[in-house]
Amino acid sequence: MKLGAKHLYLIDYDGTNLPDLKSCIEMKYPDVKATTIQADAADEAAIVGVCRQALQEEGRLDVFFANAGVATAAPLQEVTTDAFMNTMRINALSCFLAIKHASEAMQQQNPVRGKDHGGGSIILTASIAGIRSGAGSIDYSASKAAVNNMAQTATYQLRNTDVRVNSICPGLIETGMTAFTFEYAAARGTSSKIGQLNPLGRHAVAEGAQTLNEFPGLSSLGSQ
Ligand SMILES: NC(=O)c1ccc[n+]([C@@H]2O[C@H](COP(=O)([O-])OP(=O)(O)OC[C@H]3O[C@@H](n4cnc5c(N)ncnc54)[C@H](O)[C@@H]3O)[C@@H](O)[C@H]2O)c1
Repeated sequence: MKLGAKHLYLIDYDGTNLPDLKSCIEMKYPDVKATTIQADAADEAAIVGVCRQALQEEGRLDVFFANAGVATAAPLQEVTTDAFMNTMRINALSCFLAIKHASEAMQQQNPVRGKDHGGGSIILTASIAGIRSGAGSIDYSASKAAVNNMAQTATYQLRNTDVRVNSICPGLIETGMTAFTFEYAAARGTSSKIGQLNPLGRHAVAEGAQTLNEFPGLSSLGSQ
């Protein structure tokens, strides 16, 4: 938003926080429009629809942040086939759909709206668990490894289009996804040990979470 985003389309399949998120963004950034959509980030029709909506309303799509994710934290023998596939569907399929449909929309030029050349930026949230063992359950780690691979594969397949695809690999961050870890440590009096294996010796916090009313995790895309 600081870089001039004009219109954010924010998707979450849990609609609970969306109204507050919209008003919070628009209050903090009066020049930014926020449209909220309650939808599944792994639903192809929803992703096609939101890309189309951005093109229709703003004439261009510049950024897609595929951030939706779930974690089971289940030990190996408790990961069922259904649970494995569900994690892969939400964490990996959602990124595939973002790459496929957002890259197509981003390549559309629209000089009238200031877009003389196609291009854009697709950002996928993977995890350190997608690179190293010991940072997540087997289904979660496999799904995030897939996300990292898709970033590399898509970058190559989208060469010469000016559509960039990057994945980010955070370590432990205090969010809704990891609340259990922090509550468990607090109950045991071991909060100070959280994140001690990181080179920084600590976990991360979601910057801006307080000003955005603590909504760190959302799948979103924006038009500039
Ligand atoms: N918190 C961490 O330590 C950590 C570390 C590395 C990576 N990540 C990744 O960061 C991303 C954000 O996670 P978070 O920590 O903010 O978790 P979070 O649980 O706080 O937020 C995740 C959000 O995604 C939404 N969501 C889940 N499934 C969805 C779906 N199918 N369609 C639409 N929305 C869906 C949830 O409703 C929630 O708002 C995830 O991809 C997660 O795997 C988190």
